[in-house]
Amino acid sequence: NCQCDKCFNKEALARIMLMENLNLTAGIKELSVTKTGALRIDWTNDHQSHYEAEWLKQRAFTEEAKHKRHSTYRLPKRQWSSDHKIAKLDYSFVLEKDEGLLQLLIELEITGAVLLQNTPSDPTAAFNICNKVAKVKYTHYGELSNVIVVPNPNNVAFTGAALNLHNDIVQYHDMPGMIFLHMIKQHTGEGGETTLSDGLYAAEQMREIHPELFHLLTTTPVYFWDIGEADPADNTRVKDFYKISKEPTIKLDISGAVTHIRFNNQIRDSFLDLAVDQVDDFYKALKTYFELIHANSIGFKMTDGDMTVVDNVRCQHGRTGFTGPSSPRHLVTTYLAWDEALCKRRRLQQKCSRNQ
Ligand code: OGA
Ligand code: ZN
Repeated sequence: NCQCDKCFNKEALARIMLMENLNLTAGIKELSVTKTGALRIDWTNDHQSHYEAEWLKQRAFTEEAKHKRHSTYRLPKRQWSSDHKIAKLDYSFVLEKDEGLLQLLIELEITGAVLLQNTPSDPTAAFNICNKVAKVKYTHYGELSNVIVVPNPNNVAFTGAALNLHNDIVQYHDMPGMIFLHMIKQHTGEGGETTLSDGLYAAEQMREIHPELFHLLTTTPVYFWDIGEADPADNTRVKDFYKISKEPTIKLDISGAVTHIRFNNQIRDSFLDLAVDQVDDFYKALKTYFELIHANSIGFKMTDGDMTVVDNVRCQHGRTGFTGPSSPRHLVTTYLAWDEALCKRRRLQQKCSRNQ
């Protein structure tokens, strides 16, 4: 971690000292403090380093320093259940003001769901927000996907069928982090309502109440598949697709915290990579998880100009069925990656705190 010009490029913020030259046995010959208050180290291999006090403090092996770094990395999540009131923000506040976009990103990081209101009926409305953050995440359904009732649908969403609570695009290993569900035209009759659940809350309930089933969901690989053809007249997407992913339903990090939830029973592959005597327990685990997300969900009917934004690797969304095929219901889905959203949140926090 020497910061001298031979070891570190201050513009590129990267080490130029190569690993083959890392000397694991070099020790300290002499320590001193310079006139400007920096620490100077003369090493036994004749190298000399200077470290500013603030630089050292930020990297101290203390709980305080670790906490500070962690809160820049991720904001703490707040779990919720069926009594949750989703946060509401005005679309133009989010699109036009840094404070609005920052509020959206912070709320998504903490609770995983926000309702934007007064969105124009332009299908690129979510696309335009994504462009303020970075770029949309492309999937084989396009940069934005029109969820309407069509003949010969290549996805069950393009019918009037009910959609169980689910995560989207689980057939990609690199699932989109965030989904924008923009209601351009709602179904006027019964149905077409949105359901939402905090999959993290359900996962933690499951860990506590059914630890062995929770363990199964974190260790059993599940195949998802999606095979089909895009509309040949649409030049913006790949013509055909054949995706397969294989991941557990609940993914944990090295500390045991839930990081990704991948639940979508409607496009789960019927092929199971299990021993035959594991199948019953696997279904029991999946069904138990579904019952928890279902029991702790909220429901509301979006009206024209509403846009529900959801953390797609944490929360599940769904819809109640409606009778097609004549329904003019029109929803647009657009995706964004979490890395881009986190990056923008940190930059906006820096900018907004400078402006205060
Ligand atoms: C989807 C979806 C919800 C809706 O297309 O993946 O969840 O309300 N749609 O149609
Ligand atoms: Zn969906």
